[in-house]
Amino acid sequence: MLCWDRGVRIQPFVIAGIEPDLSGSQLKGESEKVSFKAFRIHQQEKGVSAGFEQMQVDDLTEGEVVVRVSFSGINYKDALAATGKAKILRAASLNGGIDCAGVVQSTQSAAFGVGDSVLVCGCGLSEIRDGGYAELVRVPETCVVALPKGLELRDAMAIGTAGFTAALAVIRLEQNGQSPEHGPMLVTGATGGVGSIVIGMLAAKGFEVIALTGKSDQHDYLKQLGTTDFLDRHSLEMGTRPLEKGQWGGAVDNVGGETLGWLTRSVRPWGNIASIGNASGIKLETTVMPFILRGVSLLGINSIEMPTALRNLAWQRLGEDLKPAHLDLIAPRTIAFDELPGAFESYVAGTVTGRTVVRIGH
Ligand SMILES: NC(=O)c1ccc[n+]([C@@H]2O[C@H](COP(=O)([O-])OP(=O)(O)OC[C@H]3O[C@@H](n4cnc5c(N)ncnc54)[C@H](OP(=O)(O)O)[C@@H]3O)[C@@H](O)[C@H]2O)c1
Repeated sequence: MLCWDRGVRIQPFVIAGIEPDLSGSQLKGESEKVSFKAFRIHQQEKGVSAGFEQMQVDDLTEGEVVVRVSFSGINYKDALAATGKAKILRAASLNGGIDCAGVVQSTQSAAFGVGDSVLVCGCGLSEIRDGGYAELVRVPETCVVALPKGLELRDAMAIGTAGFTAALAVIRLEQNGQSPEHGPMLVTGATGGVGSIVIGMLAAKGFEVIALTGKSDQHDYLKQLGTTDFLDRHSLEMGTRPLEKGQWGGAVDNVGGETLGWLTRSVRPWGNIASIGNASGIKLETTVMPFILRGVSLLGINSIEMPTALRNLAWQRLGEDLKPAHLDLIAPRTIAFDELPGAFESYVAGTVTGRTVVRIGH
């Protein structure tokens, strides 16, 4: 059951008629009493209820750093969490939003100062701690990343968890020796957030990139990102043999299920498959043959938990050589915080192209 509990809980963002000052000069003790707006999700016996509520800093899950959020974004996982289509929250109630970018409002960490521009991505936001769909977020210092050189706050959320995950995939592919000489890279879920960004990254690194997509009307978009050819996911012939003809030098897979099984059977010797998503299913059916006869590698990508050094490296490279060249094309939409509840269904339906940035605050 999905119950938009709006109207009942929404209160104007004022206290005693005075708009609260959330500027960086505000000290910790004062900001704890300030009420702010959050998009909060509550687990129900069946599904979720979700809507805007007023909160105070003390209500938030714990951490040393309070961030005044400027932007967040929408990821497939955010849509699943907010609509209850899958159980994402591992707590009874949390603010939604798996990532955000903003400015440090108050801090007990020596690593960050008030006024620093930062981002938070993965790290259990909207899973085990309150997420980025809120005017204030409070997180442990290990979750906070200084805004990389070369990126503005909006850029960081245009890239968001999707771009961060794409960067992790490229880094793991590089580490495992994937090179353009292996042959074309197939990207599945191509018009989605991760797919769109990883296509540009791979094309910029000299790979030939083929897109597997369900959207035949988006070929021009995919071409602009760097795709040279397309496969239609609705009419894909996957075969059933343990090893099909080796067509792909490697792959980045955002959909899982039957498609991932087929990829293991159709990647050329010593190719790598970065497994990122499950938009079409969580089951993987294959045999050991691709691994023991072709030396194919399946690389798991986890954007949530990782060593801090890898998190920082990926973000640093997102401001440098992995910075998406087509950010305006990939993330053309910025919606207001109030528009958020109406934006999730198209993600669940798989009809969205590219990324949506959510403006939370100033
Ligand atoms: N491992 C991690 O840490 C991590 C991090 C981020 C995201 N993810 C996962 O990666 C996937 C992509 O995330 P995203 O944010 O890019 O999502 P997204 O923007 O919603 O894109 C998903 C894309 O997958 C395709 N698709 C949708 N439904 C499908 C279906 N039933 N069967 C086959 N393809 C389908 C669509 O592309 P086409 O129409 O072009 O085919 C869609 O645009 C999601 O499963 C997400 O949960 C994992």
